[in-house]
Amino acid sequence: MSRWHERQQKDIYIKKRASMGYRSRASFKLEQLNQRYHLIKNGSVVVELGSAPGGWSQVLSRLNPRGVNIACDLLTMDPVARVDFIQGDFLEKSVQVKMAEILNGQQISLLLSDLAPNLTGNRVVDQARCYDLCDNVLGFGHLHLVEGGALLIKVFHGQGFDDFLKTIRVDFKQVHVLKPDASRSESREVYILGIGFVKRN
Ligand SMILES: C[S@@+](CC[C@H](N)C(=O)[O-])C[C@H]1O[C@@H](n2cnc3c(N)ncnc32)[C@H](O)[C@@H]1O
Repeated sequence: MSRWHERQQKDIYIKKRASMGYRSRASFKLEQLNQRYHLIKNGSVVVELGSAPGGWSQVLSRLNPRGVNIACDLLTMDPVARVDFIQGDFLEKSVQVKMAEILNGQQISLLLSDLAPNLTGNRVVDQARCYDLCDNVLGFGHLHLVEGGALLIKVFHGQGFDDFLKTIRVDFKQVHVLKPDASRSESREVYILGIGFVKRN
């Protein structure tokens, strides 16, 4: 048996995922963070970036059925009930305009980003792409987050991490760096959670 198969077999989340009908293991990361910080409030406005195949969307559909849920990904995604999906590159202005149209003047209470760039294998290039996405997410947040709102964003440890964390600390009253249990320990991914967005004009 290959090491990959061995690891997969050991991975309790694979089995748990199948039994819960979740499309990706990512669902558990959001559930775990939500259990601790109560981020998803039923009736709220949530935007989710990097949504395919839809694991986080499924969690939103379940926990925010009375609210607005907008998801975006480069890839196509099978529909999830109560989630508006936009297929496109979040970095494209036209895609951000489409999201603003769906928001129709409503401000976002929770902005989620699980965006991960396609890896080239070149560490420097990959980190730069990652933080280009992060800067864009934060810029979108500046425009659409409600005062007091929250941002949960995936980042990768390495070049750019400290600077990005500093920026987040300016915009949010409370900032946490989190590694949910469901995130593989060997992965450099962590999530930054900003709570209490401070709007500046
Ligand atoms: C880790 S996956 C997301 C998993 C998802 N949150 C879930 O729960 O199933 C990262 C996603 O980011 C998307 N992505 C990367 N760059 C993007 C971009 N510029 N615009 C939109 N989506 C992007 C990828 O297509 C990929 O589906």
